[in-house]
Amino acid sequence: MNSGLTLISVRGTTRIVGVMGYPVKHSASPAMHNAAFATLGMDWAYVPFEVAPENISAALAGIRALNLAGVNVTVPLKELIPPFMDELTDRARLLGSVNTVIHREGRLIGDSTDGPGFIAALAYEGLILKPGDKVVVLGAGGSSRAVVRALLEAGSNIVIANRNEERAEALAAELAPGTSGKIAVVSLTESVLRNALTDAVLLVNTTSVGMHPKPEEMPPVPVDALHVGLFVSDLIYNPYETRLLFLARSRGCRFQNGIEMLVRQGAIAFERWTDVKPPADVMRNAVQSYLQGRSAD
Ligand SMILES: NC(=O)c1ccc[n+]([C@@H]2O[C@H](COP(=O)([O-])OP(=O)(O)OC[C@H]3O[C@@H](n4cnc5c(N)ncnc54)[C@H](OP(=O)(O)O)[C@@H]3O)[C@@H](O)[C@H]2O)c1
Repeated sequence: MNSGLTLISVRGTTRIVGVMGYPVKHSASPAMHNAAFATLGMDWAYVPFEVAPENISAALAGIRALNLAGVNVTVPLKELIPPFMDELTDRARLLGSVNTVIHREGRLIGDSTDGPGFIAALAYEGLILKPGDKVVVLGAGGSSRAVVRALLEAGSNIVIANRNEERAEALAAELAPGTSGKIAVVSLTESVLRNALTDAVLLVNTTSVGMHPKPEEMPPVPVDALHVGLFVSDLIYNPYETRLLFLARSRGCRFQNGIEMLVRQGAIAFERWTDVKPPADVMRNAVQSYLQGRSAD
């Protein structure tokens, strides 16, 4: 293996899965899934499909016509896919977003594995949320919706801070009803976050602030609000350690970057397609080698 690349044999019997997005050429998912298939000796292969938004319908028809086992879906197609599915899981319907399509006997089933992937990633670091735990979420975009929904299912007491407060209010009004969790919306400012973080057990950055190519930036989190009882999760995985995570580490917080969520959402999709338990350690190593190789590009 070199830079996350795995040698696989494709035969007449090989089952095909892949990722649809626009662009997809930087996706870590082919390296992650092909490493898993190779390790388990499975006759499967995972390939990238660059699909422009105007070609979605034809691309999805191609899943049936070519008898693919399924696909992952990434930016900017996740929110465009639901109307084309024969069936949506409850989570995908509620979020209005699909990141995994499963092809079963001509029917396309749309699911969203980001939220369960996020919770599984926290559990991997030993963080199991209890109902009523306070969680501060920065951001109200697509990944925030998946994360907030999963936190609501865990019964969390959520505070969302977003630059565009109306967007956060809309997210809360849509996702909170019918769950045991609670959501308050606050402004994304240092003084408000200092207050909100005092009794929080988890801070999640779902904004793109601090992502490559601007790793020097960070959301307006006051450094002195990063207390040792706080777990800091940043969904960003490029750079490997954001400025927020650097400061969290220096303040003695437990912390996690976005790699484990990427691995866990992929592992859930893998199991949905194959009915085989995924090798998470292999997938994590493959993502890490791929990202290290890519940063040397
Ligand atoms: N680890 C994983 O598996 C995983 C999965 C999905 C996403 N992610 C990462 O999560 C991040 C967000 O992705 P997304 O799909 O949720 O994006 P998105 O839907 O475009 O949402 C972007 C969020 O960032 C906020 N934002 C952007 N620029 C900002 C700025 N200068 N100041 C303050 N807030 C700003 C936006 O606020 P406004 O609403 O005010 O514009 C919005 O809340 C990306 O870094 C992505 O790589 C990781």
